[in-house]
Amino acid sequence: MTTTDRNNLTQDSKSIRSNKFKVLSTPNLSLGKRRGKEEIEVVQFGDLPQELHRLGEGKHYLIRTFGCQMNEHDSEVMAGILENMGYTATEQEEDADVILFNTCAIRENAEDKVFGHLGRMKTLKRERPHLIVGVAGCMSQEESVVNTIMQKYQHIDLILGTHNIHRLPYLLQEALYSKEMVVEVWSKEGDIVENLPKVRQDGLKAWVNIMYGCDKFCTYCIVPYTRGKERSRHPEDVIAEVRELARLGYQEVTLLGQNVNAYGKDFSHIQYGFGDLMDEIRKIGIPRVRFTTSYPSDFDQHLIDVLAKKGNLMEHIHLPVQSGSNAMLKLMARKYTRETYLDLVHRIKEAIPDVSLTTDIIVGFPGETDEMFEETLSLVKEVEYDSAFTFIYSPREGTPAAKMQDDISEEVKKERLQHLLDVQNEISRRKNEALRDQVLEVLVEGESKTNPDVLAGRTRTNKLVHFKGDTSSIGQFVYVRITDPLTWTLNGEQVFTE
Ligand code: SAH
Ligand code: SF4
Ligand code: F3S
Repeated sequence: MTTTDRNNLTQDSKSIRSNKFKVLSTPNLSLGKRRGKEEIEVVQFGDLPQELHRLGEGKHYLIRTFGCQMNEHDSEVMAGILENMGYTATEQEEDADVILFNTCAIRENAEDKVFGHLGRMKTLKRERPHLIVGVAGCMSQEESVVNTIMQKYQHIDLILGTHNIHRLPYLLQEALYSKEMVVEVWSKEGDIVENLPKVRQDGLKAWVNIMYGCDKFCTYCIVPYTRGKERSRHPEDVIAEVRELARLGYQEVTLLGQNVNAYGKDFSHIQYGFGDLMDEIRKIGIPRVRFTTSYPSDFDQHLIDVLAKKGNLMEHIHLPVQSGSNAMLKLMARKYTRETYLDLVHRIKEAIPDVSLTTDIIVGFPGETDEMFEETLSLVKEVEYDSAFTFIYSPREGTPAAKMQDDISEEVKKERLQHLLDVQNEISRRKNEALRDQVLEVLVEGESKTNPDVLAGRTRTNKLVHFKGDTSSIGQFVYVRITDPLTWTLNGEQVFTE
């Protein structure tokens, strides 16, 4: 069965036509939650029909991205598809013929930002009536968002979801010609589409999807609903893509998945996991390989052993813990305990002593007491993360946690966040201080964003380094002695060796 058949069969197949809308399919979160047994097929993104190839000739597109790395990579795919259609990129809204918002649904403030932009588009559309404004990404997968756009933002021309990005040319054509708001969002994931065109943001670092979706269903999280079930790309497709990037001169790849440690669990024909994949990618001539995100209880010893071989596998692991309290972890449905997490950290540090560990933490989850929060602080102190992303819990409609009583005041949530930041910043500063006078390998990424006289690059452990140097070294590896370590960055001097 093809992707389109499956979606038409399982969801809203009615096609509503009115003066304003052409609704091909709308999202449904409870369908998005279901996990079917269908085999995932791999299909190829084929050549576009001639008329679509030329649709964008002489026209410009602009994509605004709001989400995680996967969302950013989806924007690169959409850019690739649009350029295939003849469009060229612009940074200026006034020059754009197509503006796409690639949205994120992870927290409420991410969504509020997008609605602000969508509102603003009304004026722009008045000035440029031919402009097509589209909404893509995780917010499009939420029925409440689609309803709001259909009711209150009728100047929007196109809504597409995360599962049908490859349908963009057809939907865009429909939006251009029908003058109606075109809505096509599949609730269920479809097949894996290979051979997607991509316009990568730079020629140095590249993202590579290794899998899609998430089956973990942490009780606070919307991702399993917006991204569907876990589906792994075949190892040979991933490896071919990394090889091609190496051939093109890329210096670094970051392998992407919501839970990279579940890679391969959905294969029925082979026994092959993330450790196996990394062991093969290790042999490819690409200088740096990173990956994100790891899920603690799926992180196996085989992977630790492979990472310990180092080479092009960087010693940085992003290992979200969310909370240090077992009671919280249970309510969050994270499938590990404080003890098993700490045991994993211990084994990682033993195998890779200079590893850098970073994490994600949520404060103010329903039911979090002062004592539970203290347990998070004590875990942070015990692990000594290099840095942490910290978030105030944000209820997401349709998730189990949204039904739990959100019993902590905004004030307490903010206090806890600040307390946690203070503790973490002190640790980050101390860990960076330990690098003083060390000479580190740095991949030079460009000029510093704040000071063009200074170059910026990253260490193997993904720390940002600033130093004075010649712009000719951008894109290359240099050695830098750390002279002035700060909390979030390292300042240093380039060291020239024979
Ligand atoms: N797949 C990754 C993370 C994806 S979302 C993982 O499991 O680690 C990135 C981070 O956003 C999460 O780790 C979590 O800390 C945070 N997050 C997710 N849902 C949230 C919510 N409803 N409120 C606040 N933070 C949330
Ligand atoms: Fe969300 Fe949990 Fe999946 Fe991460 S593992 S994407 S936090 S459900
Ligand atoms: Fe946001 Fe979707 Fe990524 S909700 S964090 S863009 S998977």
